Amino acid sequence: MNDHVVDDQIHQWHTPPAKPALARDQVHLWRVWLEASEADRHELAQVLSSSERERAARFHFARDRERFIVGRGALRVILAGYLHIRPNQVEFCYGAYKKPALVSRQRSLEFNISHSHNVLVAAVSVGRVVGVDVERIRPLDDFEGMAKRFFSPAEYEALAAVPPSLSLQSFFTCWTRKEAFVKALGQGLYCPLDQFDVSLKPGEPAALLRVQDDPQATARWSMESLTPALNYVGALVVDHGPCELEFWQYK
Ligand SMILES: CC(C)(COP(=O)(O)OP(=O)(O)OC[C@H]1O[C@@H](n2cnc3c(N)ncnc32)[C@H](O)[C@@H]1OP(=O)(O)O)[C@@H](O)C(=O)NCCC(=O)NCCS
Repeated sequence: MNDHVVDDQIHQWHTPPAKPALARDQVHLWRVWLEASEADRHELAQVLSSSERERAARFHFARDRERFIVGRGALRVILAGYLHIRPNQVEFCYGAYKKPALVSRQRSLEFNISHSHNVLVAAVSVGRVVGVDVERIRPLDDFEGMAKRFFSPAEYEALAAVPPSLSLQSFFTCWTRKEAFVKALGQGLYCPLDQFDVSLKPGEPAALLRVQDDPQATARWSMESLTPALNYVGALVVDHGPCELEFWQYK
């Protein structure tokens, strides 16, 4: 596949300080490369819980298993750094629709993760609900058909007006914005995807434009566009208005 030119400038993902401080009005975004060296993967495997090891063992393909180990291990290391505990002491619990969270005594932090191909992005905040989604831009057999099925009528119409050379990228832009919103809500795909609109046109700022039956929602949630790497798009949704973002590269 030819490289797609991504509109937004690719964010600079910086080397983090030894102990990154997270203020209440900030969201820290961490990028993790999931294809790590064997030595790094071995080290990260040590911090997993027994149920995570069981989950890793259930992956059919070695590459998926290895990516899961690196992603989950790195997430534990990142969260433990803020909580001043050891990575294997991080404890997760799950919402009604399986959104992972920290158990109540570690609940000073909110987080959400998304992975696609070789990239995982974790969003971490203090007391602000977050949802994140990333996708590698890749050829799809019938993205117009998927847009018709999953997007709202306004989004489908907006996509149809995008020049063909940018339509696949706009499709993934819309997809990640919608997923980031339903992940912030914690509902995943239990939330009807056609009942809210997001922006998608090239160059248009990321925005939640309308939520059916909830006129307050657009004021409550803010949306940011992320560019995790060349040929990837992503979005972050945060509650209670805009905030400062910091971008950290894991290792
Ligand atoms: C969770 C979900 C919303 C997104 O999954 P996804 O885009 O395939 O995968 P992502 O990598 O972005 O996210 C997966 C992570 O989200 C988190 N997650 C799981 N359920 C979640 C929920 N209800 N809310 C928020 N986050 C959730 C988990 O951490 C999970 O990773 P893990 O299992 O390794 O811990 C899921 O409901 C899903 O199946 N989506 C299918 C995609 C689709 O059809 N989209 C149409 C878009 S228009």
